[in-house]
Amino acid sequence: MSVEDFSTDFGPFHDKTWLNCAHQGPLPKVAAAEALEAVSWKQTPYELTTDRFTDVPRRVKRALGRLINTAPEEIVLGNSASYGMHLIANGIPWKAGDEVLLVRGDFPSVVLPWLALERRGVTVRQIEPRGSALGVDELRANLSPATRVFCTTWVHSFRGHALDLNDLGAVCRSHGVTFVVNTSQALGARPLDVSATPVDAITNVGFKWLYGPYGTGFCWMRPELLESLEYNQAYWLSMLTADDLGKPLHDLALRSGLGARQYDVFGTANFFNFKPWAASLEFVLDIGLDRIVAHDQSLVSRFLEGINKDQYTILSPENGPTRSTLVLLSHRDPDRNDAIHRALRDAGVYVAFRSGSIRISPHLHNSAEDVDRALTILNRQ
Ligand SMILES: Cc1ncc(COP(=O)(O)O)c(C=O)c1O
Repeated sequence: MSVEDFSTDFGPFHDKTWLNCAHQGPLPKVAAAEALEAVSWKQTPYELTTDRFTDVPRRVKRALGRLINTAPEEIVLGNSASYGMHLIANGIPWKAGDEVLLVRGDFPSVVLPWLALERRGVTVRQIEPRGSALGVDELRANLSPATRVFCTTWVHSFRGHALDLNDLGAVCRSHGVTFVVNTSQALGARPLDVSATPVDAITNVGFKWLYGPYGTGFCWMRPELLESLEYNQAYWLSMLTADDLGKPLHDLALRSGLGARQYDVFGTANFFNFKPWAASLEFVLDIGLDRIVAHDQSLVSRFLEGINKDQYTILSPENGPTRSTLVLLSHRDPDRNDAIHRALRDAGVYVAFRSGSIRISPHLHNSAEDVDRALTILNRQ
């Protein structure tokens, strides 16, 4: 299968190969240009108009709404995946004895915010999956009448499998359990329509598969979940604009009915980050998820077909719906993995070393040549 080439929309990479999008996505050229424009606004602060304060976050929300098929007003802007995870974990009105189910070995930002609730009498139980991915039957068997929340990553950062959100979500729905998903290693490389998927909340970083700057992210919650939160956040710029400061403000009152906007991260206009992120999101949307999935998966196939399986074991799923854009592999002698990762880096090929394995994660900025370059080095180890 031929691979479309989007690499000229990125870089320059100076003869290096970045196959580590699961860590950081590179900023597309259109977004870099907008970052420079944001810098110029700050150099001449009369350019930081109230309209721009309002429009920058709105533009990001419009793009994110299109991406997950929801109204822009339902998007909470954050600076990470952790931001939304903390909002949900700390905002749910818990009763002592309530239970949260997690998956043991999940990414730390999916585990730690819930563990902190143990101080409030919440029980946190981490399910040990039988295989590398949690099965629906395992989730069902672990639910108890006290379970309020099940939280997991969609694509696992260290094992590379994608979970079936429909099946897991259906189990949660039928037991009245809130289903919270960290979609950070998936969104941008797989489509998600929250209006047609049984999830109650997602949190996501902006700086991986969505090609945003570091320090970007968002959260989406079903309106009923959002309304049920008890979380003391009353950010003045969610309720007023800078222009309101021109009026006397003796009788400030909280505004209600703000929806998701109530929980936007402080500094919501964050020009340096959100202006380029909006451009990256629009770039992704303009290409379209279908083309992106086809592109990314053809690179994954090329890698899996080219790697010498006598030398390496593939640890992530190689076929079917559980396969993602994260390929985890190990040399037959796992003690060599770190050295192989360093050999790749020394040759200008950047991949990740995670949980003792090598992780390759190609996306739009990569070409077939990038994959071949990695294969050449890997296969001669
Ligand atoms: C699944 C997942 N979630 C979150 C993060 C980062 O989280 P945060 O933005 O909260 O630092 C990563 C990787 O860095 C990740 O792999």
